Amino acid sequence: MTAKNNEPTKKLSTESYKGVRDFYPEDMFIQKYIFERMRKAVEKFGYVEYGASVLEPAELYRAKSGEEIVNEQTYMFTDRGDREVTLRPEMTPTVARMVAAKRRELSFPLRWYSIPNLFRYEKPQRGRTREHWQLNVDLFGSDNIEADVEVISVAHEVMHSFGATNNDFRIEISHRDATGEALRKILKQVNINDLNEIQERISQLTKLIDRKKKMSSEDFRTKSVQLSGDPDFNDHFFALAKESEDIIKIINNLKNKGINNVSYNPEITRGFDYYTGMVFEVFDTNPENRRALFGGGRYDDLTSLFGGEKIPAVGFGAGDVTMRDFMETHGLLPTYKPTAKLYIAIQDESCRESAEQLATTLRAGGTDVALDISHKKLGDQIKIADRQKIPFVTAIGTEEVKSAAYRVKNLADGTEKILKAAEIADYLKTQSAL
Ligand code: HAM
Repeated sequence: MTAKNNEPTKKLSTESYKGVRDFYPEDMFIQKYIFERMRKAVEKFGYVEYGASVLEPAELYRAKSGEEIVNEQTYMFTDRGDREVTLRPEMTPTVARMVAAKRRELSFPLRWYSIPNLFRYEKPQRGRTREHWQLNVDLFGSDNIEADVEVISVAHEVMHSFGATNNDFRIEISHRDATGEALRKILKQVNINDLNEIQERISQLTKLIDRKKKMSSEDFRTKSVQLSGDPDFNDHFFALAKESEDIIKIINNLKNKGINNVSYNPEITRGFDYYTGMVFEVFDTNPENRRALFGGGRYDDLTSLFGGEKIPAVGFGAGDVTMRDFMETHGLLPTYKPTAKLYIAIQDESCRESAEQLATTLRAGGTDVALDISHKKLGDQIKIADRQKIPFVTAIGTEEVKSAAYRVKNLADGTEKILKAAEIADYLKTQSAL
């Protein structure tokens, strides 16, 4: 910041780093609302919150995340002790590490959730940023279909907690076995028989199908034909991919619970290598938001990377960016309100001490109040309250100090009520509940 003599100081840019967001109070209000709704929805099902650092040893992701995310999308650096460090791009490896570390002490099944911020070096665009927050809901220790059904039900509950109805979104499910089987048949037909080669191609094709929506059909055709050796890959894949027994059971079970906006879609494959069974995504039915709102599935092998027996797991991630877009599109965003319900204006400087006392009394009683420090004219003080969306104002002058009765004005409709200090809290509560 210091400039050498005579050299003009170069002004710093006020822009945030590319692809990340600043949260001004009105954005923070929405963010908090989103997190609160998410927390309430998942806690209804008995999920408990955990957390971890954004820093992880880079090797955690090399083992099993999927090449794209590790090679192209991670923020990585070497620390002063020569350790390779990654800013977490997702939470699943972290939670698997944490569960594996305490496997003996933890009592399964575990129902855990977290809302971490994650970093991915992606091209910023609608629904994609370089830092996002993601609700992660994971159930460890059950390989039962009921666990898959529960996790999808939680996702459904989260959507409803924002005021969405079944018509506003759809849940699309598939299964890694169904995808793998269809791909294996295709590869066999074109005479690819080496087991390692088959495995590798299945992994590549799975990721390619996951990205299908994001590329042109021509591009998909070229790449899929190249990887599979089948000139009619697309037609063959969709003809061969069939709902597995598990998928049919999961869908029926969900429908019995009134979750009828769920269907099988073989295009849902998920980009990560660690999924082993059911996979699903949640989409907005409004085409304005094309990116998935939620993504998840079963990953029964991930904990075994840390040694010991594997612990079956199923879960999902739901991002704040796509959720906010969804809410905006469907008119579900809350209206901004600061926590302070009352602005105490000062009509006469000699009354400042009394105004401060009133503020202290109200705060002690649990009411958030802002006290004027602008020393401006009363009209201007009221403007400040209004601009900051504080709904009520009371002005303290010699009259109020003498009578200990305060004229509380509702800025939205201009109505006024004269109250004693002890009555203000209740009055504001009933008014803001309206
Ligand atoms: P994912 O599909 O990579 O899954 O991300 C889940 C959700 O996070 C997406 O559907 C989207 O809402 C949001 N999201 C992802 N990347 C971005 C981004 N760059 N900008 C904004 N939002 C984004 C996972 O991360 C898995 N680890 C989820 C999981 C948990 N699977 C099992 N448990």
